[in-house]
Amino acid sequence: DDLERLAADIRRADTVVAFTGAGISAPSGVPTFRGDDGVWEHFDEGQFTYGRFQRDPEGFWADRLELQRAMFGDEFEPNAAHEALAGMGHDGTLDAILTQNTDGLHGDAADATGTDGTTLLELHGNARRVRCTDCGRRTDGDPVFERAADGELPPTCECGGVYKPDVVLFGEQLPGAVIQRARELARESDVFLAIGSSLVVEPAASLPRLAASPEATVGIVNLESTPVDSTADVVCREDVTAVLPRLRSLLEE
Ligand code: OAD
Repeated sequence: DDLERLAADIRRADTVVAFTGAGISAPSGVPTFRGDDGVWEHFDEGQFTYGRFQRDPEGFWADRLELQRAMFGDEFEPNAAHEALAGMGHDGTLDAILTQNTDGLHGDAADATGTDGTTLLELHGNARRVRCTDCGRRTDGDPVFERAADGELPPTCECGGVYKPDVVLFGEQLPGAVIQRARELARESDVFLAIGSSLVVEPAASLPRLAASPEATVGIVNLESTPVDSTADVVCREDVTAVLPRLRSLLEE
C-alpha cells in the first residue's frame, strides 16, 4: 500500500525531511488554526499582527495572553506522532523536522527519546520563550507571562525594552537564516513528508514544491485535502497518530 511505498522510498533515501503543522499537535489537545473550532474562529487574526504589536503593545499583549490560554492553557504532551518522528530521528531514518508549530512538542519528544542527530527548525519560533525587542535577549516566557497577567502590559526586559513572544507574527519576516536552511533541506530531500498542515500559508505552501523533483517523493499526511495533494506522490488522509507509528514500525522491519 501507500505507506509501504513510502517506507521503501525512505529506506533508499539520503535525505528525509518531515514538515509539520498544527494537525500533528491536535491529538495532544492543542487546537489547530483553521477548520471547525480552529483558533481563528474564536480570535481575530488581524489583532495578532506585527503592526499591531508595534502600534499598541499593551492591547496586543492583553489579547496574546488570551490566545496563549486558549492554545496552551491545558497541560499537553507529545503524542504518538511526535514520538514516532523522534524515534525515526533516533533510528537514523529521519534527517530533519521543519515545523510551523510554536508549542515546543517536537523538542520535548526529542529530549525524551535522546535524539540529537536530527535537525529541528522551528520556523515560526517558540511560544514558550519571549525576546526583548531592544537588546535581543531571549528568555523563558512563563515568568514574563505571569507578570503580564498581573497587569504589566506590555512586559519589559531589564534593559527597558518591550518583550515580544518569540514567535513570528503575521506581517513579520521569518528569520532569513532559518527559512534559507528550510528551503535547502526541502530541495535536498529525497523524501519530503508534509504532516498535519493545511499548506495554505507561506512558506508551507511552497516548500513541498521545492522538494518535488522528479526523483523525490512528496508525501502528505492530513485529515483533510490540501492544495498539494494533486501533485503529491503519496497521500494518507488519516490521523497522524495512526500513520506515523505504523510508518516507523514498517521502517524497523
Ligand atoms: P492549520 O490549522 O491551517 O491546518 C491543520 C491541518 O491539520 C488541517 O488541514 C487538518 O485537517 C489537519 N489535522 C487536524 N488534526 C489532524 C490529525 N489528528 N491528523 C492529521 N491531520 C490533522 O495549521 P497549519 O497548517 O499549521 O501561523 O497553519 C499554518 C500557520 O497558519 C500556523 O503556523 C499559524 C497559522 O496562522 C502563524 O501564526 C504565523
